[in-house]
Amino acid sequence: MNPTALTITIAYSAVVLVACVAILIVWRSTHSFEPNRKDTTDTHRLAEGEKGWFIFAVVALAVLLLATLAFIPYGDNAKAEGQQEVAVESQQFAWLVRPTTIKAGVPVRFAVTSADVNHGFAVYNDANVLLFQIQAVPDFTSHIVYTFKEPGRYQVVCIEFCGVNHDKMLGTFQVEP
Ligand code: CUA
Repeated sequence: MNPTALTITIAYSAVVLVACVAILIVWRSTHSFEPNRKDTTDTHRLAEGEKGWFIFAVVALAVLLLATLAFIPYGDNAKAEGQQEVAVESQQFAWLVRPTTIKAGVPVRFAVTSADVNHGFAVYNDANVLLFQIQAVPDFTSHIVYTFKEPGRYQVVCIEFCGVNHDKMLGTFQVEP
């Protein structure tokens, strides 16, 4: 299992565990185990508490959003310092990536287009992990910015069915230190 898959597995397990505990707490708090229980619950106080929890949830979500927004690998940060421009042309059934050598650690702005039909421009690392993908569309140029952290060989795979040799529509480029 690669580190990304392991992180995702641990994160999902934690979320499931927390959800199970929450369900158990809710179930316990809504079931009475005494047959003739007198209800002495202060509903006004509960309503006030509900407002507090609502504000807590909103604040928690806002904090999570702001804390993770910067890690989203997409977006058009076209003005990045020293950014590399890479043109990607696609057609049945090949990729033309220019230049074929890219520098690691510097943002790369891919300009992706197609000469015929829709293709799916997907970039995988050496461990066959999908890093990002974007549609290659005829008469249109799609942009995506990505920074390669590791030097090495990267593979381009078409992930949009585009004809009889779709599965053979592969490409490669080199990322250098
Ligand atoms: Cu191009 Cu599938």
